[in-house]
Amino acid sequence: MTRTYVVTGSASGIGATTARLLVERGEKVIGIDLSGADIEADLSTPEGRAAAAQAAIDLSGGTIDAVIACAGIAAPIAKTLAVNYFGVTEILDALRPTLAASPAPRAAVVSSMASLQPNSPEMVEAALSGDENRALALAEEAVAAGPQAGYVVYPTSKRALSRWVRRESITPEWAGAGIPLNAVAAGTVITPMTEALLSDPEGLALVDGSVPMPLNYHQPPESIASLLLWLTSEDNTHTTGQVIYDDGGADVTLRGDDIWSWNDPK
Ligand code: NAI
Repeated sequence: MTRTYVVTGSASGIGATTARLLVERGEKVIGIDLSGADIEADLSTPEGRAAAAQAAIDLSGGTIDAVIACAGIAAPIAKTLAVNYFGVTEILDALRPTLAASPAPRAAVVSSMASLQPNSPEMVEAALSGDENRALALAEEAVAAGPQAGYVVYPTSKRALSRWVRRESITPEWAGAGIPLNAVAAGTVITPMTEALLSDPEGLALVDGSVPMPLNYHQPPESIASLLLWLTSEDNTHTTGQVIYDDGGADVTLRGDDIWSWNDPK
């Protein structure tokens, strides 16, 4: 049976590739983006998110089987937190009741290996507490301190998003409603977001210095899209709350084998 997918960021890069692969499989896709999508909306504002979610529900005819949130920006500006965190979590929260009515509901978001990079714990906590005004004020403060300090906004937005996924996934609202909720943490993906940076030798050196990818180097958007497709397919019945590093080995290179230490003797 055809499934209905809502894909944010559907006009470019990972979102566009995900939408294309879904359509090629015969699924129905409702795309959301600033322009060039079924629903044109600005996910950086609460009003834009609410309007986008309502339009998606209306266009779907009341049945949404999966939501894949790809929309994001990487600039060292406060808006990056608004789009990458609140533009994902508020859309998912708004669509969750409709999603829960599907016989096989699924949700997935695009995080980043950048969530492992230095970030602002204070900004992360403000985002997780749902206080967008405070989170954005902290982001503005970081940006005002200069471009180097402002860069913290992107990894912070992805750290907060990954933590939100882990925290929410096992709640009655998600697991209790039978909805797997996962994140894909991407490495360096060749999309319009990164093309300019990667074609500049200095930018390339900077990226490769912080995102080591021993397996197959930079990835095409299909690498992320195919994992998003599996996570949101009916085949995924028990994988939830996972932040899956689809990053050519960047996470393992940086973090080693330390993923069990929470229960080790101190
Ligand atoms: P992209 O720039 O090709 O696509 C992002 C899409 O999001 C664009 O179509 C853009 O219009 C949309 N968008 C941005 N702001 C929006 C807003 N306020 N409202 C609605 N839509 C908005 O970038 P790409 O690479 O496809 O990125 C997709 C996701 O993957 C992002 O969340 C990004 O942070 C993440 N990611 C990308 C990596 C990369 O190397 N390209 C690495 C790790 C994560």
